[in-house]
Amino acid sequence: MDRSDNYDSNKFIDLARKAADERSLNIGRPLTYHVTTFGCQMNARDSEKLRGILEEIGYQPSDIEDADLVVYNTCSVRENANLKVYGRLGVLNGYKKKNPRMKIALCGCMMQEETVVEKLRESYRFVDLVFGTHNIYKFAEYIYEILCEDGLHVHIEKDSPVIYEELPKKRTYAFKSGINIMFGCNNFCSYCIVPYVRGREKSRDPHDIIREIEELAADGVVEVMLLGQNVNSYGRGLEGEPTFAQLLRDVNEISGIERIRFMTSHPKDLSDELIDAMAECDKVCDHLHLPLQSGSSRLLADMNRHYDKESYLGLVEKIRSRIPDITLTTDIIVGYPGETEEDFLDTMDVVRRVEYDSAFTFLYSKRTGTPAATRDDQIEEAVAKERFNRLLALVQELGHKRSERFTGRTMDVLVEEINRQDESLVTGRLTNNSVVHFPGDESDIGHIVSVKLSQCMGFYYLGERV
Ligand code: 5AD
Ligand code: SF4
Repeated sequence: MDRSDNYDSNKFIDLARKAADERSLNIGRPLTYHVTTFGCQMNARDSEKLRGILEEIGYQPSDIEDADLVVYNTCSVRENANLKVYGRLGVLNGYKKKNPRMKIALCGCMMQEETVVEKLRESYRFVDLVFGTHNIYKFAEYIYEILCEDGLHVHIEKDSPVIYEELPKKRTYAFKSGINIMFGCNNFCSYCIVPYVRGREKSRDPHDIIREIEELAADGVVEVMLLGQNVNSYGRGLEGEPTFAQLLRDVNEISGIERIRFMTSHPKDLSDELIDAMAECDKVCDHLHLPLQSGSSRLLADMNRHYDKESYLGLVEKIRSRIPDITLTTDIIVGYPGETEEDFLDTMDVVRRVEYDSAFTFLYSKRTGTPAATRDDQIEEAVAKERFNRLLALVQELGHKRSERFTGRTMDVLVEEINRQDESLVTGRLTNNSVVHFPGDESDIGHIVSVKLSQCMGFYYLGERV
Protein backbone atom coordinates (compact mmCIF):
# COMPACT_ATOMS: atom_id res chain seq x y z
CA MET A 1 0.00 0.00 0.00
CA ASP A 2 1.30 3.42 -0.95
CA ARG A 3 1.40 5.98 1.77
CA SER A 4 1.01 9.62 0.88
CA ASP A 5 4.19 10.54 2.72
CA ASN A 6 4.89 13.24 0.19
CA TYR A 7 1.92 15.34 1.35
CA ASP A 8 3.28 17.72 3.94
CA SER A 9 0.44 18.37 6.37
CA ASN A 10 2.86 20.14 8.74
CA LYS A 11 3.49 22.81 6.11
CA PHE A 12 -0.24 23.61 6.09
CA ILE A 13 -0.53 23.40 9.87
CA ASP A 14 2.20 26.11 10.01
CA LEU A 15 0.46 28.26 7.39
CA ALA A 16 -2.92 27.91 9.11
CA ARG A 17 -1.33 28.66 12.48
CA LYS A 18 0.08 31.95 11.14
CA ALA A 19 -3.30 32.94 9.68
CA ALA A 20 -5.08 31.95 12.91
CA ASP A 21 -2.54 33.90 15.02
CA GLU A 22 -3.21 37.00 12.95
CA ARG A 23 -6.96 36.63 13.47
CA SER A 24 -6.63 36.05 17.17
CA LEU A 25 -4.38 39.15 17.51
CA ASN A 26 -7.14 41.19 15.88
CA ILE A 27 -9.84 39.91 18.20
CA GLY A 28 -7.68 39.76 21.33
CA ARG A 29 -8.20 36.07 22.18
CA PRO A 30 -7.38 32.64 20.79
CA LEU A 31 -9.68 31.24 18.09
CA THR A 32 -12.16 28.62 19.28
CA TYR A 33 -13.70 25.45 17.79
CA HIS A 34 -16.45 22.94 18.37
CA VAL A 35 -16.61 19.50 16.72
CA THR A 36 -19.89 17.53 16.69
CA THR A 37 -19.72 13.89 15.66
CA PHE A 38 -22.55 11.81 14.22
CA GLY A 39 -22.45 8.07 13.55
CA CYS A 40 -20.01 5.30 14.28
CA GLN A 41 -16.68 4.73 16.05
CA MET A 42 -14.84 5.46 12.80
CA ASN A 43 -16.26 8.97 12.77
CA ALA A 44 -15.43 9.34 16.46
CA ARG A 45 -11.80 8.50 15.65
CA ASP A 46 -11.79 10.85 12.65
CA SER A 47 -13.05 13.63 14.93
CA GLU A 48 -10.07 13.04 17.23
CA LYS A 49 -7.86 13.74 14.22
CA LEU A 50 -9.83 16.91 13.39
CA ARG A 51 -9.45 18.10 17.00
CA GLY A 52 -5.75 17.23 16.96
CA ILE A 53 -5.19 19.35 13.84
CA LEU A 54 -7.29 22.23 15.20
CA GLU A 55 -5.35 22.35 18.46
CA GLU A 56 -2.01 22.23 16.63
CA ILE A 57 -3.17 25.29 14.70
CA GLY A 58 -3.99 27.03 17.96
CA TYR A 59 -7.77 26.69 18.18
CA GLN A 60 -9.20 26.07 21.65
CA PRO A 61 -12.37 24.10 22.46
CA SER A 62 -15.53 26.07 23.26
CA ASP A 63 -19.33 25.90 23.31
CA ILE A 64 -20.91 25.60 19.91
CA GLU A 65 -22.68 29.02 20.06
CA ASP A 66 -19.43 30.91 20.64
CA ALA A 67 -17.11 28.91 18.38
CA ASP A 68 -15.15 30.59 15.58
CA LEU A 69 -15.16 27.27 13.73
CA VAL A 70 -17.91 24.66 14.01
CA VAL A 71 -17.29 21.24 12.43
CA TYR A 72 -20.02 18.67 11.82
CA ASN A 73 -18.60 15.24 11.10
CA THR A 74 -21.61 13.58 9.46
CA CYS A 75 -23.03 10.08 8.97
CA SER A 76 -25.26 8.91 6.13
CA VAL A 77 -25.93 5.25 6.92
CA ARG A 78 -29.66 5.90 7.34
CA GLU A 79 -31.76 8.78 6.04
CA ASN A 80 -32.51 9.92 9.60
CA ALA A 81 -28.82 10.69 10.05
CA ASN A 82 -28.96 13.08 7.07
CA LEU A 83 -32.18 14.70 8.28
CA LYS A 84 -30.63 15.31 11.68
CA VAL A 85 -27.75 17.23 10.09
CA TYR A 86 -30.08 19.45 8.02
CA GLY A 87 -32.08 20.17 11.19
CA ARG A 88 -28.95 21.11 13.12
CA LEU A 89 -27.74 23.30 10.24
CA GLY A 90 -30.87 25.43 10.66
CA VAL A 91 -29.91 25.99 14.30
CA LEU A 92 -26.31 26.78 13.33
CA ASN A 93 -27.52 29.42 10.87
CA GLY A 94 -29.21 31.14 13.82
CA TYR A 95 -25.93 31.12 15.79
CA LYS A 96 -24.03 32.45 12.81
CA LYS A 97 -26.42 35.37 12.44
CA LYS A 98 -25.59 36.39 16.02
CA ASN A 99 -21.88 35.63 15.56
CA PRO A 100 -21.03 36.41 11.89
CA ARG A 101 -17.37 35.53 12.44
CA MET A 102 -18.38 31.88 12.83
CA LYS A 103 -17.15 29.52 10.08
CA ILE A 104 -19.04 26.28 9.45
CA ALA A 105 -17.32 23.14 8.14
CA LEU A 106 -19.07 19.89 7.18
CA CYS A 107 -17.26 16.63 6.58
CA GLY A 108 -17.78 12.87 6.79
CA CYS A 109 -19.85 10.31 4.90
CA MET A 110 -22.83 12.50 4.00
CA MET A 111 -20.56 14.87 2.05
CA GLN A 112 -19.63 12.02 -0.32
CA GLU A 113 -23.22 12.05 -1.64
CA GLU A 114 -23.43 14.32 -4.69
CA THR A 115 -27.06 15.26 -4.01
CA VAL A 116 -26.11 16.50 -0.54
CA VAL A 117 -23.39 18.81 -1.83
CA GLU A 118 -25.78 20.16 -4.50
CA LYS A 119 -28.38 20.88 -1.83
CA LEU A 120 -25.82 22.62 0.37
CA ARG A 121 -24.66 24.80 -2.53
CA GLU A 122 -28.25 25.79 -3.30
CA SER A 123 -29.94 26.14 0.05
CA TYR A 124 -27.28 26.34 2.78
CA ARG A 125 -25.09 29.16 1.55
CA PHE A 126 -23.88 30.03 5.04
CA VAL A 127 -21.65 26.92 5.05
CA ASP A 128 -17.94 27.74 4.53
CA LEU A 129 -16.23 24.38 4.01
CA VAL A 130 -17.27 20.95 2.78
CA PHE A 131 -14.85 18.04 2.57
CA GLY A 132 -15.22 14.27 2.35
CA THR A 133 -13.99 11.09 4.00
CA HIS A 134 -10.85 10.66 1.87
CA ASN A 135 -9.06 13.93 2.60
CA ILE A 136 -9.24 14.54 6.33
CA TYR A 137 -5.45 14.70 6.27
CA LYS A 138 -5.75 17.96 4.31
CA PHE A 139 -7.92 19.64 6.96
CA ALA A 140 -5.19 22.16 7.90
CA GLU A 141 -4.90 23.22 4.26
CA TYR A 142 -8.66 23.79 4.11
CA ILE A 143 -8.68 25.79 7.35
CA TYR A 144 -5.94 27.96 5.89
CA GLU A 145 -8.12 28.48 2.81
CA ILE A 146 -11.24 29.54 4.70
CA LEU A 147 -9.20 31.86 6.91
CA CYS A 148 -7.78 33.57 3.80
CA GLU A 149 -10.83 33.65 1.56
CA ASP A 150 -14.57 33.91 2.25
CA GLY A 151 -17.17 31.82 0.38
CA LEU A 152 -17.90 28.13 0.12
CA HIS A 153 -14.92 25.80 -0.37
CA VAL A 154 -15.75 22.26 -1.50
CA HIS A 155 -13.17 19.44 -1.54
CA ILE A 156 -14.55 16.00 -2.32
CA GLU A 157 -12.42 13.14 -3.62
CA LYS A 158 -13.95 9.94 -5.01
CA ASP A 159 -11.55 7.58 -3.26
CA SER A 160 -8.02 7.63 -1.97
CA PRO A 161 -5.35 5.13 -2.96
CA VAL A 162 -3.25 6.10 0.04
CA ILE A 163 -3.33 6.07 3.83
CA TYR A 164 -1.89 9.13 5.49
CA GLU A 165 -0.24 8.04 8.74
CA GLU A 166 1.09 11.10 10.48
CA LEU A 167 -1.72 13.21 11.91
CA PRO A 168 -2.02 14.79 15.34
CA LYS A 169 -4.90 13.38 17.42
CA LYS A 170 -6.72 14.71 20.44
CA ARG A 171 -8.14 11.75 22.39
CA THR A 172 -11.55 11.98 24.03
CA TYR A 173 -10.47 9.59 26.82
CA ALA A 174 -7.02 9.42 28.41
CA PHE A 175 -7.21 5.67 29.05
CA LYS A 176 -8.90 4.24 25.95
CA SER A 177 -8.63 4.82 22.24
CA GLY A 178 -9.93 3.66 18.89
CA ILE A 179 -7.34 2.71 16.26
CA ASN A 180 -8.14 2.45 12.56
CA ILE A 181 -6.77 -0.79 11.20
CA MET A 182 -8.49 -0.47 7.83
CA PHE A 183 -10.63 1.94 5.87
CA GLY A 184 -13.50 1.45 3.44
CA CYS A 185 -15.55 -1.60 2.53
CA ASN A 186 -15.71 -3.94 -0.45
CA ASN A 187 -18.79 -5.90 0.52
CA PHE A 188 -21.55 -3.95 -1.15
CA CYS A 189 -24.40 -5.26 0.98
CA SER A 190 -27.37 -4.30 -1.18
CA TYR A 191 -28.89 -1.82 1.31
CA CYS A 192 -25.70 -0.10 2.42
CA ILE A 193 -24.23 3.22 1.34
CA VAL A 194 -20.90 2.77 3.17
CA PRO A 195 -18.90 1.31 0.25
CA TYR A 196 -19.94 4.34 -1.85
CA VAL A 197 -19.02 6.95 0.73
CA ARG A 198 -15.99 5.31 2.36
CA GLY A 199 -14.42 3.83 -0.76
CA ARG A 200 -12.56 0.56 -1.32
CA GLU A 201 -11.12 -1.49 1.51
CA LYS A 202 -7.55 -0.59 2.48
CA SER A 203 -5.65 -2.13 5.39
CA ARG A 204 -2.97 -0.29 7.33
CA ASP A 205 0.47 -1.80 7.57
CA PRO A 206 0.63 -3.90 10.79
CA HIS A 207 3.89 -2.20 11.83
CA ASP A 208 2.20 1.21 11.73
CA ILE A 209 -0.69 -0.13 13.84
CA ILE A 210 1.57 -1.74 16.42
CA ARG A 211 3.73 1.39 16.65
CA GLU A 212 0.65 3.56 17.18
CA ILE A 213 -0.65 1.26 19.94
CA GLU A 214 2.77 1.15 21.64
CA GLU A 215 2.78 4.96 21.68
CA LEU A 216 -0.76 5.01 23.08
CA ALA A 217 0.23 2.51 25.80
CA ALA A 218 3.22 4.69 26.72
CA ASP A 219 0.76 7.60 26.99
CA GLY A 220 -1.50 5.78 29.51
CA VAL A 221 -3.99 4.01 27.23
CA VAL A 222 -5.07 0.62 28.64
CA GLU A 223 -7.94 -0.26 26.29
CA VAL A 224 -7.84 -0.21 22.49
CA MET A 225 -10.67 -0.67 20.00
CA LEU A 226 -9.45 -1.86 16.60
CA LEU A 227 -11.69 -0.26 13.99
CA GLY A 228 -12.76 -1.27 10.49
CA GLN A 229 -15.99 -1.87 8.57
CA ASN A 230 -15.03 -5.52 8.32
CA VAL A 231 -12.02 -6.25 10.51
CA ASN A 232 -12.17 -9.97 9.67
CA SER A 233 -10.87 -9.30 6.18
CA TYR A 234 -7.95 -7.24 7.52
CA GLY A 235 -4.69 -7.72 5.62
CA ARG A 236 -6.01 -8.50 2.16
CA GLY A 237 -3.77 -6.83 -0.38
CA LEU A 238 -0.94 -6.24 2.08
CA GLU A 239 2.46 -7.84 1.59
CA GLY A 240 2.49 -11.30 3.18
CA GLU A 241 -1.33 -11.11 3.66
CA PRO A 242 -1.26 -10.78 7.47
CA THR A 243 -4.55 -11.85 9.08
CA PHE A 244 -6.68 -10.15 11.71
CA ALA A 245 -6.01 -13.11 14.02
CA GLN A 246 -2.25 -12.49 13.74
CA LEU A 247 -2.77 -8.80 14.41
CA LEU A 248 -4.76 -9.60 17.57
CA ARG A 249 -1.96 -11.85 18.80
CA ASP A 250 0.62 -9.10 18.17
CA VAL A 251 -1.45 -6.44 19.94
CA ASN A 252 -1.94 -8.87 22.84
CA GLU A 253 1.86 -8.75 23.40
CA ILE A 254 2.02 -4.98 23.88
CA SER A 255 2.76 -4.23 27.50
CA GLY A 256 0.55 -1.65 29.17
CA ILE A 257 -2.45 -2.62 27.05
CA GLU A 258 -4.98 -4.49 29.21
CA ARG A 259 -8.02 -4.78 26.97
CA ILE A 260 -8.51 -5.23 23.24
CA ARG A 261 -11.85 -4.70 21.52
CA PHE A 262 -12.70 -4.65 17.84
CA MET A 263 -15.53 -3.55 15.57
CA THR A 264 -17.08 -4.73 13.21
CA SER A 265 -16.95 -8.42 12.29
CA HIS A 266 -18.64 -9.75 9.18
CA PRO A 267 -19.90 -13.33 9.78
CA LYS A 268 -18.77 -14.45 6.32
CA ASP A 269 -15.10 -13.80 7.18
CA LEU A 270 -14.98 -14.98 10.80
CA SER A 271 -12.36 -17.73 10.65
CA ASP A 272 -11.53 -20.55 13.06
CA GLU A 273 -8.09 -18.96 13.32
CA LEU A 274 -9.74 -15.81 14.67
CA ILE A 275 -11.90 -17.69 17.17
CA ASP A 276 -8.75 -19.43 18.42
CA ALA A 277 -6.93 -16.10 18.75
CA MET A 278 -9.87 -14.60 20.66
CA ALA A 279 -9.97 -17.57 23.01
CA GLU A 280 -6.21 -17.65 23.57
CA CYS A 281 -5.35 -13.94 23.88
CA ASP A 282 -5.98 -12.96 27.49
CA LYS A 283 -6.45 -9.26 26.68
CA VAL A 284 -9.09 -9.73 23.98
CA CYS A 285 -12.45 -8.85 25.55
CA ASP A 286 -15.30 -11.36 25.88
CA HIS A 287 -17.52 -9.49 23.46
CA LEU A 288 -18.32 -10.04 19.82
CA HIS A 289 -20.51 -7.79 17.71
CA LEU A 290 -21.73 -10.01 14.90
CA PRO A 291 -24.26 -8.27 12.62
CA LEU A 292 -27.07 -10.61 11.56
CA GLN A 293 -29.10 -8.10 9.46
CA SER A 294 -31.79 -10.71 8.78
CA GLY A 295 -32.56 -14.27 9.85
CA SER A 296 -34.08 -15.15 6.48
CA SER A 297 -31.70 -17.03 4.17
CA ARG A 298 -33.66 -15.72 1.19
CA LEU A 299 -33.17 -12.10 2.26
CA LEU A 300 -29.56 -12.66 3.28
CA ALA A 301 -28.83 -13.86 -0.27
CA ASP A 302 -30.58 -10.82 -1.67
CA MET A 303 -28.63 -8.57 0.69
CA ASN A 304 -25.37 -10.06 -0.67
CA ARG A 305 -24.29 -11.15 2.81
CA HIS A 306 -22.71 -14.52 1.81
CA TYR A 307 -24.05 -16.55 4.75
CA ASP A 308 -27.43 -18.07 5.55
CA LYS A 309 -29.52 -18.66 8.66
CA GLU A 310 -28.04 -22.09 9.37
CA SER A 311 -24.40 -21.11 8.85
CA TYR A 312 -24.86 -18.06 11.10
CA LEU A 313 -26.37 -20.22 13.86
CA GLY A 314 -23.53 -22.73 13.41
CA LEU A 315 -20.98 -19.96 13.79
CA VAL A 316 -22.60 -18.74 17.01
CA GLU A 317 -22.54 -22.27 18.40
CA LYS A 318 -18.85 -22.65 17.54
CA ILE A 319 -17.96 -19.34 19.20
CA ARG A 320 -19.99 -20.08 22.33
CA SER A 321 -18.50 -23.54 22.75
CA ARG A 322 -14.96 -22.09 22.52
CA ILE A 323 -15.61 -18.92 24.62
CA PRO A 324 -18.56 -19.73 26.94
CA ASP A 325 -18.74 -16.34 28.71
CA ILE A 326 -18.76 -14.31 25.52
CA THR A 327 -21.32 -11.57 25.08
CA LEU A 328 -22.91 -11.46 21.64
CA THR A 329 -24.45 -8.34 20.17
CA THR A 330 -25.80 -7.68 16.70
CA ASP A 331 -27.37 -5.34 14.12
CA ILE A 332 -30.73 -6.21 12.56
CA ILE A 333 -32.64 -4.50 9.75
CA VAL A 334 -36.43 -4.74 9.62
CA GLY A 335 -38.51 -3.95 6.55
CA TYR A 336 -35.93 -4.70 3.86
CA PRO A 337 -37.61 -4.65 0.40
CA GLY A 338 -39.67 -7.78 -0.19
CA GLU A 339 -39.55 -8.88 3.48
CA THR A 340 -42.52 -11.19 4.12
CA GLU A 341 -43.98 -12.12 7.50
CA GLU A 342 -42.24 -15.48 7.06
CA ASP A 343 -38.85 -13.79 6.51
CA PHE A 344 -39.43 -11.67 9.58
CA LEU A 345 -40.32 -14.75 11.66
CA ASP A 346 -36.96 -16.22 10.63
CA THR A 347 -35.29 -13.15 12.10
CA MET A 348 -37.31 -13.55 15.32
CA ASP A 349 -36.33 -17.23 15.38
CA VAL A 350 -32.60 -16.47 15.16
CA VAL A 351 -32.91 -13.83 17.88
CA ARG A 352 -34.73 -16.31 20.12
CA ARG A 353 -32.17 -19.05 19.49
CA VAL A 354 -29.04 -16.91 19.82
CA GLU A 355 -30.34 -14.90 22.81
CA TYR A 356 -28.24 -11.82 22.08
CA ASP A 357 -27.09 -9.79 25.05
CA SER A 358 -28.22 -6.76 23.13
CA ALA A 359 -29.07 -5.80 19.57
CA PHE A 360 -29.24 -2.61 17.52
CA THR A 361 -32.44 -2.78 15.54
CA PHE A 362 -32.98 -0.57 12.50
CA LEU A 363 -35.90 0.18 10.23
CA TYR A 364 -34.70 -0.29 6.66
CA SER A 365 -33.83 3.09 5.17
CA LYS A 366 -33.70 3.61 1.42
CA ARG A 367 -30.28 4.95 0.39
CA THR A 368 -29.98 6.47 -3.06
CA GLY A 369 -27.40 4.69 -5.20
CA THR A 370 -27.72 1.29 -3.50
CA PRO A 371 -29.27 -1.67 -5.37
CA ALA A 372 -32.02 -2.17 -2.76
CA ALA A 373 -33.27 1.40 -3.25
CA THR A 374 -34.31 0.66 -6.83
CA ARG A 375 -36.58 -2.24 -5.84
CA ASP A 376 -40.29 -1.79 -6.37
CA ASP A 377 -41.29 -4.05 -3.47
CA GLN A 378 -40.49 -1.59 -0.68
CA ILE A 379 -42.32 -2.42 2.56
CA GLU A 380 -45.11 -0.18 3.84
CA GLU A 381 -43.96 1.87 6.80
CA ALA A 382 -46.78 0.71 9.10
CA VAL A 383 -45.95 -2.95 8.44
CA ALA A 384 -42.23 -2.40 9.04
CA LYS A 385 -42.90 -0.46 12.25
CA GLU A 386 -45.20 -3.13 13.62
CA ARG A 387 -42.51 -5.78 12.98
CA PHE A 388 -39.86 -3.50 14.43
CA ASN A 389 -41.81 -3.17 17.68
CA ARG A 390 -42.24 -6.93 17.97
CA LEU A 391 -38.51 -7.45 17.43
CA LEU A 392 -37.54 -4.75 19.90
CA ALA A 393 -39.76 -6.27 22.61
CA LEU A 394 -38.12 -9.67 22.09
CA VAL A 395 -34.59 -8.26 22.05
CA GLN A 396 -35.24 -6.42 25.31
CA GLU A 397 -36.82 -9.40 27.02
CA LEU A 398 -33.91 -11.68 26.12
CA GLY A 399 -31.25 -9.05 26.87
CA HIS A 400 -32.71 -8.61 30.33
CA LYS A 401 -32.66 -12.32 30.97
CA ARG A 402 -29.12 -12.73 29.61
CA SER A 403 -27.56 -9.94 31.61
CA GLU A 404 -28.64 -11.54 34.89
CA ARG A 405 -26.32 -14.45 34.33
CA PHE A 406 -23.30 -12.69 35.89
CA THR A 407 -25.07 -11.52 39.06
CA GLY A 408 -23.12 -12.51 42.17
CA ARG A 409 -19.83 -12.96 40.29
CA THR A 410 -16.71 -10.90 40.95
CA MET A 411 -15.34 -9.42 37.73
CA ASP A 412 -12.89 -6.76 36.51
CA VAL A 413 -14.32 -3.33 35.76
CA LEU A 414 -12.43 -0.65 33.83
CA VAL A 415 -13.64 2.60 35.41
CA GLU A 416 -14.59 5.19 32.79
CA GLU A 417 -16.20 8.12 34.61
CA ILE A 418 -17.95 9.49 37.68
CA ASN A 419 -21.59 8.39 37.63
CA ARG A 420 -23.70 11.11 36.04
CA GLN A 421 -26.61 10.80 38.49
CA ASP A 422 -24.80 9.99 41.74
CA GLU A 423 -21.34 11.47 42.35
CA SER A 424 -20.50 8.90 45.02
CA LEU A 425 -20.48 6.21 42.33
CA VAL A 426 -18.19 5.50 39.39
CA THR A 427 -19.23 3.87 36.12
CA GLY A 428 -17.19 1.33 34.21
CA ARG A 429 -17.40 -1.69 31.95
CA LEU A 430 -16.78 -5.42 32.20
CA THR A 431 -14.74 -7.00 29.42
CA ASN A 432 -18.06 -8.17 27.97
CA ASN A 433 -19.03 -4.48 27.69
CA SER A 434 -21.76 -4.53 30.40
CA VAL A 435 -21.99 -1.34 32.45
CA VAL A 436 -21.36 -1.43 36.22
CA HIS A 437 -21.86 1.31 38.83
CA PHE A 438 -20.14 1.07 42.21
CA PRO A 439 -18.85 3.37 44.98
CA GLY A 440 -15.62 5.12 43.99
CA ASP A 441 -14.00 8.41 43.07
CA GLU A 442 -12.00 10.30 40.43
CA SER A 443 -8.80 8.37 41.26
CA ASP A 444 -10.41 5.14 39.97
CA ILE A 445 -10.86 6.49 36.42
CA GLY A 446 -8.75 4.55 33.92
CA HIS A 447 -8.05 1.75 36.42
CA ILE A 448 -9.27 -1.83 36.48
CA VAL A 449 -11.02 -2.69 39.75
CA SER A 450 -12.30 -6.03 40.98
CA VAL A 451 -16.02 -5.66 41.66
CA LYS A 452 -18.71 -8.01 42.98
CA LEU A 453 -21.82 -7.65 40.81
CA SER A 454 -24.40 -7.60 43.59
CA GLN A 455 -27.51 -6.55 41.66
CA CYS A 456 -28.58 -6.68 38.04
CA MET A 457 -30.79 -3.72 37.13
CA GLY A 458 -31.78 -4.86 33.65
CA PHE A 459 -29.11 -3.38 31.42
CA TYR A 460 -26.53 -2.55 34.07
CA TYR A 461 -25.19 -3.82 37.39
CA LEU A 462 -24.75 -2.28 40.81
CA GLY A 463 -21.63 -3.61 42.48
CA GLU A 464 -19.20 -3.35 45.35
CA ARG A 465 -15.43 -3.30 45.38
CA VAL A 466 -13.80 -6.48 46.74
N1 5AD B 1 -31.14 0.87 6.49
C1 5AD B 1 -31.16 0.46 7.78
N2 5AD B 1 -30.08 0.05 8.44
C2 5AD B 1 -28.90 0.05 7.78
N3 5AD B 1 -27.66 -0.30 8.16
C3 5AD B 1 -26.83 -0.10 7.14
N4 5AD B 1 -27.50 0.37 6.07
C4 5AD B 1 -28.80 0.47 6.45
C5 5AD B 1 -29.98 0.90 5.80
N5 5AD B 1 -29.97 1.29 4.53
C6 5AD B 1 -27.36 -0.84 9.49
C7 5AD B 1 -26.77 -2.25 9.39
C8 5AD B 1 -25.34 -2.04 9.78
C9 5AD B 1 -25.43 -0.88 10.73
C10 5AD B 1 -24.19 -0.14 10.98
O1 5AD B 1 -26.40 -0.04 10.13
O2 5AD B 1 -27.45 -3.07 10.33
O3 5AD B 1 -24.75 -3.17 10.38
FE1 SF4 C 1 -22.20 -1.80 4.84
FE2 SF4 C 1 -22.06 -4.46 4.45
FE3 SF4 C 1 -19.81 -2.95 4.33
FE4 SF4 C 1 -21.04 -3.34 6.69
S1 SF4 C 1 -20.09 -4.94 5.42
S2 SF4 C 1 -20.25 -1.39 5.89
S3 SF4 C 1 -23.22 -3.41 6.11
S4 SF4 C 1 -21.55 -2.86 2.94
